Amino acid sequence: MPIPLVIDTDTAADDCFALLLGLLDPRADLKAITIVAGNVGFAQQVDNAFLTLELAGRLGDVPVHAGAHVPLVSEWVGATEVHGLDGVGGQRRTNAEPASEEHAVDALVRLARRHAGELTIVAIGPLTNIALAVRRDPAFAANVRELVVMGGSLNGRGNVTPAAEYNIFVDPEAANIVVSAGFPSLRFVTWDPLTIASTVFGPERIAQIEALDTPLSRFFVRANRATFAFDHAAGLGGSTHPDSLSVAIALAPELTRRERPYRVAVELRGEHTRGATVFDWRADAVPNATAIEEVDSAAFFTLMRDLLAQRPHVRRGPEVQPGSGGFARV
Ligand code: BDR
Ligand code: CA
Repeated sequence: MPIPLVIDTDTAADDCFALLLGLLDPRADLKAITIVAGNVGFAQQVDNAFLTLELAGRLGDVPVHAGAHVPLVSEWVGATEVHGLDGVGGQRRTNAEPASEEHAVDALVRLARRHAGELTIVAIGPLTNIALAVRRDPAFAANVRELVVMGGSLNGRGNVTPAAEYNIFVDPEAANIVVSAGFPSLRFVTWDPLTIASTVFGPERIAQIEALDTPLSRFFVRANRATFAFDHAAGLGGSTHPDSLSVAIALAPELTRRERPYRVAVELRGEHTRGATVFDWRADAVPNATAIEEVDSAAFFTLMRDLLAQRPHVRRGPEVQPGSGGFARV
């Protein structure tokens, strides 16, 4: 049985590739895409989700719900220096599908209730929507089977500040609500060391993807260019793909080689450390999450390469009617 899934995303670059996995991997039954303020402008993120749906040939199958336009307390901080201004290298959707009229938080609460004990949510942006869903419905966390969060660092090393990783830094209050909510399974895919050790696509891997010469591989290479340049200049050896890994881990248990329980807290007040995740490594800490510590990096790359080798049937023309976005409520 495919896994009922929601991807909560700040759609740019690696978020789009993560969506492709959710849309095209047979192990996933993607119920909704929910958008949260993050990497690039909000409307652009919605456009990028529809562009990805279009390229996957899934337009009209999976609703896109717009969520929180700003973090709970902090000012919004984008990541256009990492992903470029639009996050997709200038590629544009040709459809005019509108986002669902249902707010992302309402969709999250409804889907968690409808699929109580079965729904997996993969959160690959700031945690604002997820925190609002926790606040909206006291049963929300208990209804979710598993929440995979791309965020934080296991070793105190951030990427936007010395101590904070971007997704947590943008909305630390939301992250604090999420780690305190009592999700039955809360799994962290962290920036450092996991992302840096296991998700880097260097020039040789990018060349392999480019050689596929499919619409999806061409989309990938172009949308990934800014991130590749940024991460490469930062000394990482290529582009990083933590969002894709997060969806992959939810779908393919065999990728996870080592995972350990931790008590994780979010720093809200530190002078230099606001937005840092503090993973309590001590033996007597009462866990509220797990962190994935080691994955099969080669198998992850193979999964992504095979995904991008696909040639989905893309519906165009009269089948894509502007404004025809009446999605069934499931
Ligand atoms: C995370 O921040 C975003 O820019 C990426 O999409 C990823 O979710 C990495 O820190
Ligand atoms: Ca993201």
